Amino acid sequence: KVIYLKDYQAPEYLIDETNLTFELYEDHSLVHAQLVIRRNPERAAGDSGAGLPPLVLDGQQLELLSLAMDDRVLGEGDYQLDDSHLTLQPVSSQFTLDSTVRIHPESNTALEGLYKSGTMFCTQCEAEGFRKITYYLDRPDVMSTFTTTITAEQHRYPVLLSNGNPMASGAEEGGRHWATWQDPFKKPAYLFALVAGDLWCVEDTFTTMNQREVALRIYVEPENIDKVQHAMDSLKKSMRWDEEVYGREYDLDIFMIVAVNDFNMGAMENKGLNIFNSSCVLAKAETATDAAHQRVEAVVAHEYFHNWSGNRVTCRDWFQLSLKEGFTVFRDAEFSADMNSRTVKRIEDVAFLRTNQFAEDAGPMAHPVRPDSFMEISNFYTLTVYEKGAEVVRMIHTLLGAEGFRKGTDLYFERHDGQAVTCDDFVKAMEDANGVELTQFKRWYSQSGTPRLQVEESYDAQAKTYSLTFRQSCPATPGQKEKAPFVIPLALGLLDGKGNELPLRLQGEGAAQGVGRVLALTEAEQCFTFVDIPERPLPSLLRGFSAPVKLSFPYSRDQLMFLMQHDSDGFNRWEAGQQLSVQVLQELIAQHQKGEPLVLDSRLVKAFDTLLGDESLDQAMVAEMLSLPSEAYLTEISEVADVEAIHAAREFARVTIGEALYQPLLARYRANRALSRETGYIAEAAHIARRTLQNIALSYLMQSGKAEALEACLEQFNDCDNMTERLSALAVLVNSAFEQAKADALQRFAEYFKDDPLVMDQWFSVQAGCGLPGGLERVQELMKHPAFTLKNPNKVRALIGAFANQNLVNFHRADGAGYRFLADHVIALNALNPQIASRQLTPLTRWRKYDTSRQQLMKAELERILASGELSSDVYEIVSKSLA
Ligand code: ARG
Ligand code: ZN
Repeated sequence: KVIYLKDYQAPEYLIDETNLTFELYEDHSLVHAQLVIRRNPERAAGDSGAGLPPLVLDGQQLELLSLAMDDRVLGEGDYQLDDSHLTLQPVSSQFTLDSTVRIHPESNTALEGLYKSGTMFCTQCEAEGFRKITYYLDRPDVMSTFTTTITAEQHRYPVLLSNGNPMASGAEEGGRHWATWQDPFKKPAYLFALVAGDLWCVEDTFTTMNQREVALRIYVEPENIDKVQHAMDSLKKSMRWDEEVYGREYDLDIFMIVAVNDFNMGAMENKGLNIFNSSCVLAKAETATDAAHQRVEAVVAHEYFHNWSGNRVTCRDWFQLSLKEGFTVFRDAEFSADMNSRTVKRIEDVAFLRTNQFAEDAGPMAHPVRPDSFMEISNFYTLTVYEKGAEVVRMIHTLLGAEGFRKGTDLYFERHDGQAVTCDDFVKAMEDANGVELTQFKRWYSQSGTPRLQVEESYDAQAKTYSLTFRQSCPATPGQKEKAPFVIPLALGLLDGKGNELPLRLQGEGAAQGVGRVLALTEAEQCFTFVDIPERPLPSLLRGFSAPVKLSFPYSRDQLMFLMQHDSDGFNRWEAGQQLSVQVLQELIAQHQKGEPLVLDSRLVKAFDTLLGDESLDQAMVAEMLSLPSEAYLTEISEVADVEAIHAAREFARVTIGEALYQPLLARYRANRALSRETGYIAEAAHIARRTLQNIALSYLMQSGKAEALEACLEQFNDCDNMTERLSALAVLVNSAFEQAKADALQRFAEYFKDDPLVMDQWFSVQAGCGLPGGLERVQELMKHPAFTLKNPNKVRALIGAFANQNLVNFHRADGAGYRFLADHVIALNALNPQIASRQLTPLTRWRKYDTSRQQLMKAELERILASGELSSDVYEIVSKSLA
């Protein structure tokens, strides 16, 4: 069943108060709900004669035990039940509904609604999980205050948590106890949360800008109590940052985070009680990499920021998901940029967007940032809604400037506090606060697909004018043949022959407006002419990736090398290096396809040599620039991806660079490794940068196959004090031909960390991603490992996900065995956990990218899934759309 945005109607009834009592037992749980309901005045206009409309409550997998309306007990003739609704006929416009249902969290493997993760009870209600807890109007525009009482066995579940403030608690007969929580802020049901378990917590406090004391608590299973400090530090930084940058203050007396091992996504912003995948909370030097530390910081911030962008102001309906997600991703990205290196953060985000979101935009699931239809909303927690949505918010920020943007967010929060609103409301606040019009800009919300932007230059030496002509277009996407032009903010600068920035004055302007500026492209074709340009300049275009488009400009390799060194925009220095690498790799790919010997353009080696030799450069930037574009990115930019050629070309380049630059790489490696040993692990930006460069150097060095490199690698693996160095060394070993050293390292690592599931996830991932021959067989073997289970989403992602997404040569084996393997597990997961099943399916949906033989094999697996029996709406939507 397809749901359309155009069919949106305000709810017939509202729920002002929600009183819940949970009785948690080992073999079932009972949920009592008392709902104070009234007719929505907005919908009541023509009520008098016709009587009241029926009340249709959502509810799934609930066993209804009792129902009463205003103290009148309802019997079977008083309501209708189907597998997802309870329908009854109100007789007055205001009434109280009491229900009791029985549910089974103990056997809930979908991890949606109330479920158990290990021994603890927890919830995940976004988007539509609350309907698996009780009968309710489970839609974000129905906002209610919640009072929640939980009763459970005292010794198994000493900690009982819900949203808001703790009100009362006590003991009961028979070893049970109870606690009541009250959340004074009206919220939709998707923000409800409950936790019961044997948990320890780390406590801290935060004093807000208005001197209010907030208690901070992070709850974890006892064995993880030593891995919480980093998340706590991140939380306090986030709270301060949101005050300073957005003027947003926290509003309850307590803020809690709970870490759970079994979780479908990263984390959830439930009011006052965020629930996190443990992988996004737990971090300490010995068990979590630098990247993991940064992810914890980012996710803690993201969920905290939702308190305003999501909770205080929420979404009217799920088509508006990007209203909170796109905005909040933008907020967390800016936070991370402020806490770490701004340029590196931008590089990482853009590389991720271009590799993954661009692929989504080019595939069968392409949809606008604000989709206009869906079958299963869980399938729309996408890179488009999140990452492209964040780019759309970033473009508004670029067009209005930081101050104008802040005026807009101030107005947005003030105007809509306590409301459930739309993306249009967000843009309207931006318009009203700045006195501007963003009508055309809003096409970014409604049109799907990645725009192309072709740029041509011409220089008139006589007139000293330089013109840039921009042509934009956007390929057809499902349901959208023709696209109207987008507003594209294009940040640019012009460099002279020495690499200096030229002052920019457009024809008709009185004076130069300084160097570097933002043009707003609005037409399908548009020409800008700069005057007083004394020599033919080199343009630096789309600085900072000012719009999510595919730009093409015919740079020569020498020009790219020049930009790599001289562009004042750090992002574009990296971008020039990437474009150079892409050109060089594409040449190797072509050589491979023609059966010619591979010859690497020595300019790439020279460019890398220059980078390594320049001690003044930010090491994090050097590391980013030494990283070749991934196979996934090379796939995305290919018309038809030649899996083997891409792999061969990239590996050849890595070996050649590793050999050609062996000495400078070794020097850098040794210097950085010596410092690592000297200082011990420090989780600060400069040290992270140093380790990143050290580890990329090590991976190149190992390409040489020299005993000296192996020795260095083993020394690092054995003698380091942190997971960043240890895991990098392990990954490099796994991808090497040193079979004995590899086997020993893997075994010792697993032995040492066998009781730490998050570390074992890394151990699975590193092996699943190994591109050496026999990858599928290795993964199949690992599936039998005692630490692996299909029931834990992190394990599925670490092994099956890493294999299908990061091991392209093995996944895309010509005989289709990789596809069959994935389809088998999607079918198994469909019955266990539909959300995870549908996520794992993504690589198969990209069949159009491959040769006809692989296309056939991939489609055959999709057909097999379709025919495999009863499919969840999650899996059905993706499979059917991919085959359409
Ligand atoms: N709102 C969460 C976030 O911060 C995502 C949770 C969605 N979960 C789900 N199963 N659909 O991004
Ligand atoms: Zn979010």
